[in-house]
Amino acid sequence: MATKPRLAYLPAIFVLLLVVFTSVTAQSPGPESSSLHDTFLQCLTKYTKNSSSQLSNIVFANTNPKFPTVLQNYIRNARFNTSSTPKPSLIVTPQKESHVQATVICAKSVNIQLKIRSGGHDYEGISYISDEPFIILDMFNFRRITVDIKNEVAVVQAGATLGEVYYRIWKKSKVHGFPAGVCPTVGVGGHFSGGGYGNMLRKYGLSVDNVIDAQIVDVKGNLLNRKTMGEDLFWAIRGGGGASFGVILSYTIKLVPVPETVTVFRVEKTLETNVTATDLVVQWQKVAPNTDDRLFMRLLLQPVSSKVVKGTITVRASVVALFLGGANEVVSILAKQFSLLGLKKENCTEVSWINSVLWWNDNNSLKNGVKPEALLDRNLNSAGFLKRKSDYVQNAISRDGLEWLFKRMIELGKTGLVFNPYGGKMSEIPSDATPFPHRKGNLYKIQYSVNWDDRSPGAALNFTNQAKRLFSYMTPFVSKNPRSAFLNYRDLDIGVNSFGENSFQEGVVYGTKYFNDNFQRLVKIKTIVDPENFFRNEQSIPVLRGKA
Ligand SMILES: Cc1cc2nc3c(=O)[nH]c(=O)nc-3n(C[C@H](O)[C@H](O)[C@H](O)COP(=O)(O)OP(=O)(O)OC[C@H]3O[C@@H](n4cnc5c(N)ncnc54)[C@H](O)[C@@H]3O)c2cc1C
Ligand SMILES: *[C@@H]1O[C@H](CO)[C@@H](O)[C@H](O)[C@H]1NC(C)=O
Ligand SMILES: *[C@@H]1O[C@H](CO)[C@@H](O)[C@H](O)[C@H]1NC(C)=O
Ligand SMILES: *[C@@H]1O[C@H](CO)[C@@H](O)[C@H](O)[C@H]1NC(C)=O
Ligand SMILES: *[C@@H]1O[C@H](CO)[C@@H](O)[C@H](O)[C@H]1NC(C)=O
Ligand SMILES: *[C@@H]1O[C@H](CO)[C@@H](O)[C@H](O)[C@H]1NC(C)=O
Ligand SMILES: *[C@@H]1O[C@H](CO)[C@@H](O)[C@H](O)[C@H]1NC(C)=O
Repeated sequence: MATKPRLAYLPAIFVLLLVVFTSVTAQSPGPESSSLHDTFLQCLTKYTKNSSSQLSNIVFANTNPKFPTVLQNYIRNARFNTSSTPKPSLIVTPQKESHVQATVICAKSVNIQLKIRSGGHDYEGISYISDEPFIILDMFNFRRITVDIKNEVAVVQAGATLGEVYYRIWKKSKVHGFPAGVCPTVGVGGHFSGGGYGNMLRKYGLSVDNVIDAQIVDVKGNLLNRKTMGEDLFWAIRGGGGASFGVILSYTIKLVPVPETVTVFRVEKTLETNVTATDLVVQWQKVAPNTDDRLFMRLLLQPVSSKVVKGTITVRASVVALFLGGANEVVSILAKQFSLLGLKKENCTEVSWINSVLWWNDNNSLKNGVKPEALLDRNLNSAGFLKRKSDYVQNAISRDGLEWLFKRMIELGKTGLVFNPYGGKMSEIPSDATPFPHRKGNLYKIQYSVNWDDRSPGAALNFTNQAKRLFSYMTPFVSKNPRSAFLNYRDLDIGVNSFGENSFQEGVVYGTKYFNDNFQRLVKIKTIVDPENFFRNEQSIPVLRGKA
């Protein structure tokens, strides 16, 4: 049976209508949200044993005056915040496990697609948009964080933000932390299930390398933990993307030690400085993936206006770093290894780990007196327009290659590149330990990054095309067969699934880029835990051929 009805796929629509008509006797839900809303509420009432008046404040029909606000609260890319962006028929905001279980059962019974959203940071918005009729299961109420310092573990619910995780750990201990992303409003649900990395990656690996248990609601509505879901499914939801397998309610994480004092710094060069950006990148490629694993030196490359020749553009290379130790030590390490950086103690700031989190989010925050409580702020009220893409570099780019690349970046004008060094712990973990395969042999990951604030559709086309052109220029320098990509840097340019007859083959295209050889195991697990492909999205793991 076809499991994904699409408007362009009439036979499937016919099957859907039949299923809906025969399985839901009370009402016939159409695309109008009000009847779907009533049917859905009835179903939820039945499965949760809550009255429909109790449930009405967790189910938002698209006719509800609060609907636009609930929808927009966790949109983090203005590209998907327009009047033409497809909207869900309903938003369900569960408060208890039983609400999640019932939502899965009821969405399945009316055969409507379910999109799961935690922090809403997906770069392509696939947690809250779809081409077919859909419901959002919005996890923002699931934000409890329980920190147990004695056992050095914490249970974090999927709708918590990374900033909340860092803050709650810091409240209990000044010498514990957790390796995860830099942006504090990113959600645990998408971030951990897609791998999750941040500036302690060379010392402690990915977030998922430090996950020891999880709670998930499967397609039958069962609430499972590591023991009851089994090691295969537990493996899959540590990097394979949660949304292909079920609804993740929480992860149990192992805390990591951090020193009381850490060091941050930022050093910049352009093509016009004495030590040029090119010189810097040549040396950075040798040092950053191989240096002390307590040191993470991110490199940002950005076309910027020249201060030397007015009206021209140059490329700026900025090294932004976290060292899990004191300033004297990192200055002496880099004097030997990275002389072109010219790092002096005056360029360094020694801070507590939690203040390093604030500094990485905004390097002026400490100067401006921002306090750790800022990490709890969810009310961003706005977001820019953005496009991201990713690549992996396995062989250093030559000086000639860099010079050529910088010319292309200047021509394009706006798209930047972020190089995130690997090595350290990342090289020690086998590539099949989790679904995330990009371990030993990768020098660094690239994030392509372009932001704009012009609302016109022409601008969106212009800047997304610009990122694609830079990606195309990079072909000779990056991984091949497959050209690898990072799931958390969601990019629909590398392939999407239309859930027709070629669903499996379509899945292979993006699946091998995100997961290399781990893709086959993900498919096997998917086929066992969700054979009818209820948990699906534009880039979900397909079920085995013949079952699509
Ligand atoms: C400003 C910004 C900074 C970022 N920085 C980093 C970084 O430093 N490091 C990094 O690794 N990544 C980073 N990312 C990428 C980020 O990790 C991913 O976008 C991640 O998927 C976001 O998780 P979320 O819960 O906020 O997103 P959502 O959009 O809510 O979800 C993303 C995906 O996960 C699924 N999902 C969400 N919750 C659940 C759940 N409970 N159960 C099952 N499936 C679920 C969704 O359906 C969707 O497919 C950044 C993104 C942004 C916008
Ligand atoms: C649902 O029912 C439970 C008891 O079964 C109750 O504790 C809860 O407050 C009810 N309401 C909601 C909105 O869940
Ligand atoms: C979405 O648009 C509304 C207005 O239509 C605006 O108030 C809100 O800030 C926007 N949010 C984002 C993330 O762009
Ligand atoms: C680093 O410190 C030196 C000495 O104080 C100073 O001249 C230089 O501008 C600083 N560099 C940066 C990037 O701040
Ligand atoms: C740049 O380098 C030249 C020679 O290599 C040197 O004479 C000059 O002082 C340097 N300028 C700066 C600003 O460091
Ligand atoms: C913060 O970074 C900007 C570049 O984005 C730089 O110009 C500025 O000097 C930095 N401020 C501090 C305090 O390091
Ligand atoms: C397209 O991008 C170029 C280069 O950044 C810019 O100069 C131009 O204004 C953009 N056009 C639109 C319509 O946004």
